Amino acid sequence: MKKLYPGIAPSILAADFSHLADNVQSMIDHRISMIHFDIMDGHFVPNLSFGPALVQSLSSQFSILTDVHLMIEKPALYVDAFIRAGADVITFHVETVSEEEARTLISHLRSLNVQVGISLKPNTPVETLLPFLPLVDLVLVMSVEPGFGGQSFITSALDKIKFFFQYRQDHQLHYFIEVDGGIDSKTGPQCQLAGVDILVAGSFLFQKTDIKHRLTLLGHSIS
Ligand code: DX5
Ligand code: ZN
Repeated sequence: MKKLYPGIAPSILAADFSHLADNVQSMIDHRISMIHFDIMDGHFVPNLSFGPALVQSLSSQFSILTDVHLMIEKPALYVDAFIRAGADVITFHVETVSEEEARTLISHLRSLNVQVGISLKPNTPVETLLPFLPLVDLVLVMSVEPGFGGQSFITSALDKIKFFFQYRQDHQLHYFIEVDGGIDSKTGPQCQLAGVDILVAGSFLFQKTDIKHRLTLLGHSIS
C-alpha cells in the first residue's frame, strides 16, 4: 500500500476517457504519482462516473497512489470491491453514514490496511467530523457541491481547511488535509496558505497543453 503524502492529486473525472491511460501517463511523466478517482452513484450526487473496474485497470497498469473518493450512498457495500481494485486510500462522505456506521467502516478499512479518508460537503459543518478526526488518515474538504467537475471554488472551504489545520495541531493528530473542487492557479495557493496538504484538480490539469506550467502554478516541482 502506498502511503499518503502532500502534493497534487489530479482527478481523472476531467480526463479524456477515450485516452485515459495516455492522460495518466502524461501526469506520471510530470512526476505525479497520486491519482484521484471520483466515484459517483447517481444517488448521493446527481451524476454517474465510474467504478472499481476502471480503478483496477489504471492501478494495475501504473505505479500510482490510488486515491478513491466515494460520493455514493451506502459506501460499506462497495469498499471491498475498491480495495480489490487496488485502492490505497478510500474516502467516504460523513453525510452517507451514521456515527456508528462510520466507526465500523473506519475500523474495517484499517483492519485491511487501507488508509481512510472522511469528507464533508460545503454545507456540512466541521463539527460533524470531530468524532472521527483521531481515527482517519485524511480529511477531504469539498470546495464545490459534489457531482461535477469544472465548478467554481466555494471560498468557505478555506475556513474549513484552517480549522482542520489548527485542530490537528491542537490535538496532535496526523490526518492529511485534502481539498477538491475548483482548484486552479488562484485557489490552489490560497488553500495551501490555509494549510492544505493535497490539492485535487481536474479541469485545471487534464486535456490542457501546458500541464507542466499548470502543475508548477500549483506548487508541484517537476525537476
Ligand atoms: C466534484 C468532483 C470534482 C473533481 C475536480 O464532485 O470531485 O471536484 O474532483 O473537479 P475540478 O478540478 O474540475 O473542479
Ligand atoms: Zn473527489
